[in-house]
Amino acid sequence: MISLLVLACSGGDPTETADTDRSPSSSETTPPTTTSPPPSEPRAVLASPAQAADTDPDPGVVHVQLTAAEHGDGYAYDGQVPGPTIRATVGDRLVVDLTNDLPDPTTIHWHGLSVPFAMDGVTWVEAPIASGATFRYEFPLTQAGTFWYHPHFDTERQVDLGLYGVLVVEDPADPPTDSELVVVLDVPAEVKLANADPHLVDPTGEVTLNGWVDPEIEVPAGSTVRVRLVNASGSRVVWLRDVEQVGSDQGLLPALHAGDVVVAPGDRVDLQWRVAGSFELMEAPYAVAGGPAFGDDARLLSVRATGSGQAPPTPDWGFDGALPSADPGVTDLRLLFTGSPERGWEINGETFPDVTVPTIGLDSEVVLEVRNVSPAEHPFHLHGHHFEVLSLDGAAPAVRTIEDTVQIGIGGVARLRFVADNPGFWMTHCHVLPHADEGMMTVLEVR
Ligand code: C2O
Ligand code: CU
Repeated sequence: MISLLVLACSGGDPTETADTDRSPSSSETTPPTTTSPPPSEPRAVLASPAQAADTDPDPGVVHVQLTAAEHGDGYAYDGQVPGPTIRATVGDRLVVDLTNDLPDPTTIHWHGLSVPFAMDGVTWVEAPIASGATFRYEFPLTQAGTFWYHPHFDTERQVDLGLYGVLVVEDPADPPTDSELVVVLDVPAEVKLANADPHLVDPTGEVTLNGWVDPEIEVPAGSTVRVRLVNASGSRVVWLRDVEQVGSDQGLLPALHAGDVVVAPGDRVDLQWRVAGSFELMEAPYAVAGGPAFGDDARLLSVRATGSGQAPPTPDWGFDGALPSADPGVTDLRLLFTGSPERGWEINGETFPDVTVPTIGLDSEVVLEVRNVSPAEHPFHLHGHHFEVLSLDGAAPAVRTIEDTVQIGIGGVARLRFVADNPGFWMTHCHVLPHADEGMMTVLEVR
């Protein structure tokens, strides 16, 4: 907070030099500082992470090579944190050859995508990719939206060390915007690397945007920007003030949501900026145990409008205003978030991998109730499927909301519905990575 105030100088040529370890590497961008620079230094300029090259000329196939390797004090995909953004179109086939040059086994999990079980990057049945080995992930992209990829082996440590990237699946029906910005939220590397305490969630302190603290960006006045945000931090909840949200985990919403948005670990949020004048993206304080906290809002980013122009109208996102489905009032499956910081975090009183695996009939419609009876908030995440939120704490959402990650407050209850159309052993867990690592994870078998 203090350094945000100190950093409140603006303008200048982005010529700072900084330690380049663990910084986003994009040829057009300036490396971020990982410590607070003195006030005289110009602020970092925010840019999207560099994109992965598609090596297949077939327009229906996106083929990417990724290498996971040590990078400075951490790990990176292709030497950049966030890793290369993979960009494809719904209907494409995605092929990713992952070479593991790490000293440890690893995997890639495609967060939010309903991939075949063998491609899900989990090690419940299959072995991880050994050090030195290459593995081919290959599957069709059937969902449009903002997704991300990260290891699902030694997850907390490997993600914290820098292994994560964004997967954008475009929908040709979406309106074009003047520009698009991909932003991964995290906490500064040194905060994570110094974090030896597995119970320590980092609810306060600075947030990084693609590696930079409090950067700035120039945008022409009169233009519209689609901002695709991913929260890749292990435990930091980011509460955005006064934004125009157009999409969430599983693509566009049925209506524009104007107001505050809570971005939990694992969550994605698409925003629109209709730029007229300069503005700041602000974050409200969020308490460690969940919910609002005392304190001042903090600036995440300054957007400087260049030139002159009126705020353009909202693009035609094709909002259809779809309403939530009626809750059928039955419950097929119940999960309880249990445990405590002292006892460790659990689901249904069990600690992964010592869990009871329920079986769900293939193609059945499942109403899942997730109740949080533990003294912390938890973002609930389900693999292999996406779900409709029927209600949160008894209230139906204003519009139909399809998610794969949903924050559940203390004493909270989420009623979720999904079609179990993907056979396999699907992990379901809290996306606070220290919690998942401690065992707040279970498995649902669909067959
Ligand atoms: Cu992004 Cu099992 O998680
Ligand atoms: Cu949790």
